Amino acid sequence: MKIAYTVKEVREQVKAWKKEGLTVGLVPTMGYLHEGHASLMKKGVEQCDKVVVSVFLNPMQFGPTEDLASYPRDFEADCKLCEEMGVAMVFHPEPEEMYSPNFCSYVDMSVLTEDLCGKSRPVHFRGVCTVCNKLFNIAQPDKAFFGEKDAQQLAIIKRMVEDLNMDLEIVGCPIIREEDGLAKSSRNTYLNESERQAALILSKSIFLGKKMAEEGETDATKIVAAMTELIETEPQAHIDYVKVVDGLTMQPVDVIEGPIVTAIAVYINKTARLIDNFHFTPAE
Ligand code: PAF
Repeated sequence: MKIAYTVKEVREQVKAWKKEGLTVGLVPTMGYLHEGHASLMKKGVEQCDKVVVSVFLNPMQFGPTEDLASYPRDFEADCKLCEEMGVAMVFHPEPEEMYSPNFCSYVDMSVLTEDLCGKSRPVHFRGVCTVCNKLFNIAQPDKAFFGEKDAQQLAIIKRMVEDLNMDLEIVGCPIIREEDGLAKSSRNTYLNESERQAALILSKSIFLGKKMAEEGETDATKIVAAMTELIETEPQAHIDYVKVVDGLTMQPVDVIEGPIVTAIAVYINKTARLIDNFHFTPAE
């Protein structure tokens, strides 16, 4: 497995692969890789001849009071997992390689970025769209693989690719959970034992909301109310949002008639802000 630190190295390798007629998959990550990332790599390896994993803790998508400095890192373990998963190249640039001192071009999106995580993290999606645009330009992938845990991010990236006529397919991959239900996240490592237990309230509320929708509840406010009530039983949990939105546009939905995402963001004390969601499409 090749480890590339510069844009030039990635471009040269990808160019050589494309000359041989090989397809390229990209898995963009910020490192500290877990089974969720491994599932993206697995899908990449199944669907593409060569898979590139970017490991780049993108400073642009963190606000000034967010957890950039404390975000967990373990590049050696990341490389080991990538190698085991059959990844062909890891791209691990320094911030200076991605953002020159004169950098001043950004990808800004309206509508889809304005609510949910975009509301409490105002610079986040600008950073995500900008870095993904750069990574797509650098690695020229045929497909890029994103987790459904970040439902808003996935919808935004799909929108960006369509709006800006980018020549690649975005593949969404299902949420991977711990045995007890907690969605896998690099941020779970922030939690102490009692907070780890408290964090289960996220998946419990997701399972409750999903059951209600599957049993025919179409009133989104009732689902939100039941999920909210359940989360509020956990004293260490503090709700950022619980919302039912259209699966494509991320706009609020009152009555469930088409594909929706019910998305939540919950702070566990001041230790971690965790997200989770479920997708649901009513039967015809
Ligand atoms: O989901 C993430 O880990 C990041 O937002 C991404 C897509 C790698 C961009 O930095």
